[in-house]
Amino acid sequence: MVQIPSVISYLALHALLGIKGTQGRTIPRQDKPVWETLPATPALPSPISDVRIAADGVELWMQKYNEDASQTPLVFDHGGLGYSAYFGDVLSRLIAKGHYVIAVDRRGHGRSTFKDDDVFTFDMFASNIYEQLKSAGVGQYNVVGWSDGGATTISALLNSTISPTIEKAFLFGTFMVPEDSNSTFPNTDIYSQFVSRCAQEYSELQPNANFSLFANKVGTLEATLPQFTTAQLGTISGSRVRIAGAEYDEAVNLDVPDKLHAAIPGSSLVILKNVSHFAPLQDPDQFTTAVEDFFYA
Ligand SMILES: *[C@@H]1O[C@H](CO)[C@@H](O)[C@H](O)[C@H]1NC(C)=O
Ligand SMILES: *[C@@H]1O[C@H](CO)[C@@H](O)[C@H](O)[C@H]1NC(C)=O
Ligand SMILES: *[C@@H]1O[C@H](CO)[C@@H](O)[C@H](O)[C@H]1NC(C)=O
Ligand SMILES: *[C@@H]1O[C@H](CO)[C@@H](O)[C@H](O)[C@H]1NC(C)=O
Repeated sequence: MVQIPSVISYLALHALLGIKGTQGRTIPRQDKPVWETLPATPALPSPISDVRIAADGVELWMQKYNEDASQTPLVFDHGGLGYSAYFGDVLSRLIAKGHYVIAVDRRGHGRSTFKDDDVFTFDMFASNIYEQLKSAGVGQYNVVGWSDGGATTISALLNSTISPTIEKAFLFGTFMVPEDSNSTFPNTDIYSQFVSRCAQEYSELQPNANFSLFANKVGTLEATLPQFTTAQLGTISGSRVRIAGAEYDEAVNLDVPDKLHAAIPGSSLVILKNVSHFAPLQDPDQFTTAVEDFFYA
């Protein structure tokens, strides 16, 4: 998701005050194709750790599932404003098959805290996750990054300290520059539902935190970063990268997966069918299969 701060804070404020959006008639869900729906946020599989790791002035949350020293763990890095549970239906499928997976909440998101004076950057997020995993004894991992989580993963791949710790990366619904965002996304029903829902979830996960302040920081981040250049992306070894797009992505312009694929030499590309930017909620079977094809085939 890539948005201007004023839109986020407007919607976040309305969400906080419980004001209903004026746009968008109520259309019966069965009339809409799945890519225009925002299914309920899945449950995060249990157990859910109540431990947070102190790093860089904040407390970062993560949960390992099926920890197994003989496997490379697969870390899930969610999208902006959301948190690890948005991957819940994908995580539960992989856990049931015995795979070692790790859910993280990025700085400020979900159960991880932020500082009032934070200026979020994807480099900051990448370093935080690297330090957090290192503290938890994880020195080598694979990553699934979604949207802002994908941009965080690209920052990690461009960082000479972090990059060697990442074996392979699956980048879904991600982007190079703020202009890659679809300018009509804030007008969609799914967008206002998503922001309201995130505000509600945040009030439960972090009752003492200020969601508007947090959402403004995410909005500023997405309005200004990332600024990846084609030359930078050209330095990433593409054999370990798969770019995934959504046939009906409403948040990221539809030409962006091809652009990333072309910029990262040797990368592979998959386009998920009949889904939007919210594919892990809309069709977790298809999303999980795409992840398995890349990491476990
Ligand atoms: C790269 O990552 C290391 C380890 O977290 C960090 O110290 C360094 O500042 C990062 N570099 C950039 C440009 O973010
Ligand atoms: C929460 O943050 C918003 C946006 O920065 C600010 O206007 C508001 O005063 C803050 N609310 C509280 C209770 O601190
Ligand atoms: C933006 O999203 C709409 C659907 O919400 C789509 O019809 C349009 O083609 C997208 N624009 C671009 C440039 O991808
Ligand atoms: C996509 O949706 C259309 C219309 O509902 C359906 O005919 C088609 O089989 C679906 N394709 C996939 C790959 O799910």
